[in-house]
Amino acid sequence: MDVLRMSSLKGRDLLSLAGLSSEEFHGLLDSGLQLKRGWKAGVRPDLLRHKTLAMIFEKQSLRTRSTFDIAMAQLGGHSVLLSQNYIGWGVRETIRDVAHNLERWVEGIMARTYGHATLTELAEHADVPVINALSDLSHPCQLLADYMTLRETFGDLRGLKLTFVGDGNNVCNSHIEAATHAGVELTIACPEGFDPDAAVLERARERGGRVTIERDPRAAAEGADALYTDVWISMGMEEEAEARRIAFAGYTITPEWFDALSPRGVFMHDLPAHYGEECSEDAVYHPRSVVFDQAENRLHAHKAVLVQLLADLPED
Ligand code: CP
Ligand code: NVA
Repeated sequence: MDVLRMSSLKGRDLLSLAGLSSEEFHGLLDSGLQLKRGWKAGVRPDLLRHKTLAMIFEKQSLRTRSTFDIAMAQLGGHSVLLSQNYIGWGVRETIRDVAHNLERWVEGIMARTYGHATLTELAEHADVPVINALSDLSHPCQLLADYMTLRETFGDLRGLKLTFVGDGNNVCNSHIEAATHAGVELTIACPEGFDPDAAVLERARERGGRVTIERDPRAAAEGADALYTDVWISMGMEEEAEARRIAFAGYTITPEWFDALSPRGVFMHDLPAHYGEECSEDAVYHPRSVVFDQAENRLHAHKAVLVQLLADLPED
């Protein structure tokens, strides 16, 4: 997929990585890397000139909100920020009505929702592309940036060993889908009761995904090329905080864990980090951490998504 050529993604929604073909997934990584190189070399393409993205947030965000906004601006477009406080969807008016208003004004909608069903309802009614900016089920845009980071760090993805330690929640579910597209061997270490979504796992295994669930996090980290974690208490789970801190005892990643990784092994986190819970601060600021490369790549991954879904590119 050439970033300057129209692809099969034009006009589509991006609700999960499972909704992409493996070719489309790799094409987005290629596009993101190409756009990043171009930007750093001073290329300033106006690929989204006169296009507008509506950004709906039911929850907080630093990285996703900023980088989609900056991506639109750097590509010559514009974004409109709509928090749930402003629009009151599902309360002040229906999601269907919101969709049928927005589609008359903007070329794309990205939304961060609690329930994934809210996103699918929005996508069902809006006739412009809808992008998942994090739901309770998945975080596809995060994994695009993460896999760009793995490409930059290791070159080839096939056969890499990635271990995810922590909650089998949204980020973990997208890991399963990304690893399946990329031929990455994924081990997930989570306590019983915190497994990833069963349907996501089953679909990945049907597609040849190599995913193992392990209960011993230190054993799971042995020989990993990348050790990845996410918060134990995701947004919306605050009431379960104490129970979760107990369930995840022994899952706090510190630099001592890094000795067990493969010699080239790196530490990854999608951020925000809750220090003293899923990891220590010195793990994030360790020389083997690529955490801020991941954050940087959110910008370029989102440019790739926006260009492939929204831009008017030549067909060949
Ligand atoms: N990783 C991530 O999505 O960060 P934000 O919640 O700050 O957007
Ligand atoms: N699992 C976390 C990811 C934040 C980017 C959450 O849902 O809060």
